[in-house]
Amino acid sequence: MPNKDKIEAKTVQESMVESTDIVHPSDSNSYGFLFGGHLVSLMDKVACTAAFKHSESKVTTVSIDGIHFLRPAPVGTVLTIRASVNRSFNSSMEIGLSVSAWKPGQKSEAICRAYMTFVAIDDQGLPQKVPAIIPETPDQIRRYNNAEIRRKTRLELKEKLL
Ligand SMILES: CC(C)(COP(=O)(O)OP(=O)(O)OC[C@H]1O[C@@H](n2cnc3c(N)ncnc32)[C@H](O)[C@@H]1OP(=O)(O)O)[C@@H](O)C(=O)NCCC(=O)NCCS
Repeated sequence: MPNKDKIEAKTVQESMVESTDIVHPSDSNSYGFLFGGHLVSLMDKVACTAAFKHSESKVTTVSIDGIHFLRPAPVGTVLTIRASVNRSFNSSMEIGLSVSAWKPGQKSEAICRAYMTFVAIDDQGLPQKVPAIIPETPDQIRRYNNAEIRRKTRLELKEKLL
């Protein structure tokens, strides 16, 4: 990957990703609602794209946490998945994800939230440095500050539990 020297800080906006999908019957459980594992797979791809855009490097998912399924989404629902880099560290990036669902005649509503951490890797699969992130809006600054606390917690949990 070509970015070894491209480590200038970037704004959150530069790597933000929004993707839409529709819930097909093959994506649903036996009750006709979106299967959680399918949604996580879609979210992983969108988050991966945000991490890739920020780092301009190969990336790999290293952890998924804080995942909450808030409401069911029936077949036919239009999903919007949004992902942005909350904070980058040395080689890792915390991506915040939110998913909303819409059906004709209904208001769009949040159905899922999560955090995914990606690590930028070189051609040998070893972690490599990523650009810093520049939070600009009040929400981006709040997420940036909270990402440090979440990172500390997830690394402590990994140390204690794995
Ligand atoms: C990602 C990987 C290359 C990291 O290698 P490693 O030997 O753990 O490297 P390090 O210990 O130096 O950690 C690298 C970074 O990952 C972070 N990290 C490691 N485990 C983590 C976890 N569970 N959650 C969040 N961050 C984590 C470290 O804090 C470090 O971040 P920093 O460089 O920003 O400080 C390696 O763990 C790996 O290849 N994992 C498999 C990934 C994969 O296959 N994903 C697809 C899912 S099927």
